[in-house]
Amino acid sequence: MTAPTRRKANPHAVPVESGKAYLWCACGESQRFPYCDGSHVGTGLTPHRYFADKARTILVCGCGRSARMPLCDGTHARPPQGRRRTG
Ligand code: FES
Repeated sequence: MTAPTRRKANPHAVPVESGKAYLWCACGESQRFPYCDGSHVGTGLTPHRYFADKARTILVCGCGRSARMPLCDGTHARPPQGRRRTG
């Protein structure tokens, strides 16, 4: 399995329509990021599925570290694990 490519450090605000299913890029290689364009084929990764139960704007994770994929959970604002802040 290939590690996802980091495309953007911050979330993408994306409007979704009620009753529609969406596939969000998990590999970071999509030319339509944050939407899946099939570029994950052969990476061992699969897109993140999201069903919109109502129309709204959602925040789609762009950093690849959210525990609530495909939604941003605020992890992008914290330093990656294994790194410590100094000073
Ligand atoms: S953009 Fe990934 S957790 Fe916010």
